[in-house]
Amino acid sequence: MNTILITGGTGFIGSHTCVVLLNAGFNLIILDSFINSSEKVLDNICELANIKDINQTQRLIVYKGDFRNKKILNLIFSDAELKNNNISCVMHFAGLKAVGESNFKPLSYWDVNVSGTINILKVMEQYKCNNFVFSSSAAVYGGLNNNPNEDSIARPENPYGETKLTVEKILRNLYFSSPNKWRIVFLRYFNPIGAHESGLLGEDFNNDATNIFPDICKVALGKKKFLKVFGNDWPTPDGTGVRDYIHVMDLADGHFQAMQYLLRNKPQVVCLNLGTGVGTSVLELIRIFEESNSCKVPYLISHRRIGDVACLIADNKLAISKLNWFPKRDLKKMCQDSWNWNKKNPNGYE
Ligand SMILES: NC(=O)c1ccc[n+]([C@@H]2O[C@H](COP(=O)([O-])OP(=O)(O)OC[C@H]3O[C@@H](n4cnc5c(N)ncnc54)[C@H](O)[C@@H]3O)[C@@H](O)[C@H]2O)c1
Repeated sequence: MNTILITGGTGFIGSHTCVVLLNAGFNLIILDSFINSSEKVLDNICELANIKDINQTQRLIVYKGDFRNKKILNLIFSDAELKNNNISCVMHFAGLKAVGESNFKPLSYWDVNVSGTINILKVMEQYKCNNFVFSSSAAVYGGLNNNPNEDSIARPENPYGETKLTVEKILRNLYFSSPNKWRIVFLRYFNPIGAHESGLLGEDFNNDATNIFPDICKVALGKKKFLKVFGNDWPTPDGTGVRDYIHVMDLADGHFQAMQYLLRNKPQVVCLNLGTGVGTSVLELIRIFEESNSCKVPYLISHRRIGDVACLIADNKLAISKLNWFPKRDLKKMCQDSWNWNKKNPNGYE
């Protein structure tokens, strides 16, 4: 059975992907510093994957540490080798992801997202593990094209997007340095929202997220008085920003299929948009959230934010044609599952 190393496996997207992979029969090793997640996530992953005792299983092994630390990476790979559990693929979720913060802390973003990733790739090379799934972002596109495909020009508007695009370039260089060796996919996520339908996993909004969806949930929970809508003068049908929201479980399924695709095909580097291809404005999102969950989300119109773009919707044709994958869950389901998670865990994993 294949063993997969998941960095950031207790974060929002990583945790949902761990459940999909464990239930598909993979053995997992998680490396996480828990800088933006809770160790409680591990209990819930185990519950959803029917693991009775995390200390007594080879299905899920957890290392607490920073992926910039080569020592811990060496330990993980050498332990796996000793146990004849060689790591066949790395899924690299860990990183810093707050777009706004990246403007104020660019060095941290370059250090973690870029230097840290180089670190992992060097250790992978040393242990002859050459299959890599990378969490990239639609932030690489910037605002040049409303409906970009993977060949559209990428021109990030912030340091976060720059770091993702830079890692993509490094990965292409790496592949072309030895084209018979590396299997690499970078997945450009659009706007992941939703939660596991059990209500056991979701996005921990205590961790100062600045995305719109956590804010909608906070307002609906009464933790914030109103939602700030940044601009109603964008060139969109109702003047508010349009985005492509994707259910986190569809994203998790996309990772599973992307990895299967890599492991079954010849060495290559491939870039795929993971989105639904459906655009929703902020006002539509509020309305659907309110209708799906019978609650109110008061809002105020505020000024546009620097670095925002009017409209960004995935052209997802390539992902659909290459992977045995299609996003199945609609916006109503995303809103319902998020609300279920929030009502059950109003303080996140605390
Ligand atoms: N959530 C989004 O809207 C979104 C959109 C596009 C791309 N992405 C990318 O997807 C990936 C996962 O996003 P997420 O929403 O699950 O984020 P998250 O913050 O919930 O998860 C990231 C995980 O990585 C861990 N981590 C961070 N730095 C680390 C380090 N140096 N060493 C070890 N562990 C570390 C955190 O503790 C956390 O568990 C990120 O790379 C992010 O940039 C996210």
